[in-house]
Amino acid sequence: MENNWNLKTAIITGGGGGLGLATAKKLKKLGTKIALLDNRQEVLDKAKKQLGDEVLTYELDVANLSQVNQAVQDTASRHKSVDILINCAGITGTTNIKSHEVDLDDFERVWAVNVKGSLTTFKAVIPFMLEQNYGRVLNVASIAGKEGNAGMVSYSASKAAVIGMTKSQGKEYAETGITVNCIAMAVIRTEIVDALPDKQVRYMTEKIPMKRCGTVDEFASAATFIVSAENSFSTGFTYDLTGGRTVY
Ligand SMILES: NC(=O)c1ccc[n+]([C@@H]2O[C@H](COP(=O)([O-])OP(=O)(O)OC[C@H]3O[C@@H](n4cnc5c(N)ncnc54)[C@H](O)[C@@H]3O)[C@@H](O)[C@H]2O)c1
Repeated sequence: MENNWNLKTAIITGGGGGLGLATAKKLKKLGTKIALLDNRQEVLDKAKKQLGDEVLTYELDVANLSQVNQAVQDTASRHKSVDILINCAGITGTTNIKSHEVDLDDFERVWAVNVKGSLTTFKAVIPFMLEQNYGRVLNVASIAGKEGNAGMVSYSASKAAVIGMTKSQGKEYAETGITVNCIAMAVIRTEIVDALPDKQVRYMTEKIPMKRCGTVDEFASAATFIVSAENSFSTGFTYDLTGGRTVY
């Protein structure tokens, strides 16, 4: 199947963040129309400056279905289709604590953004994708969802849920021309990682057989392949981007 990037519209949540924005830049270069959803207006403004005024931006909370529905409907009416959804919005919540110390409000917020926020957007885009018998959905999980990071139970459990959700959705829509996949990454070098002490970064990268962090370009390239039209025989799958750490 030809990619025809210039005929496609991509909705990217967390689109003002490191990985969402890098992917938006790559897709935009290929000619894809872009809508970015994020809960921080300042990063959306910054993204618009970099990508151009034609990029649609919506300040919203991905956990809020009616806000998400409005943004998706507005994108569809302006761009005539919704072909790609990349769920990049995510938060870690409080980290470096044991499970018995977890604050349940914090736990619920992590799940609201990471899990519910990936389902709201899915619910909003799916009618458009079913109508056109075509769609590409990518949920962004983490190695934490496969391995379980100590000190990050809310985040790890939520990312495992995202992986499980992807498996169900892949099967549910397998006969429709819509694929739903997931990606689980080890540490990717974003501003957040740059801000960490060298010692902490070394600790994380030493577990990676390639002995380095991933780059935002490596993420954007993998994501672009996963949501391409030519990637048409894999669904419900969790792709690996961990420099050889989780080869299962
Ligand atoms: N960077 C890494 O090393 C790494 C590794 C594994 C997984 N991930 C996952 O990749 C995704 C993107 O990570 P990133 O490094 O770009 O982080 P980031 O913090 O730069 O980007 C996340 C974006 O999501 C937005 N966001 C947060 N809550 C939101 C909400 N309720 N509604 C809408 N937008 C919201 C933030 O404003 C931010 O712009 C996240 O899901 C993260 O868990 C990142």
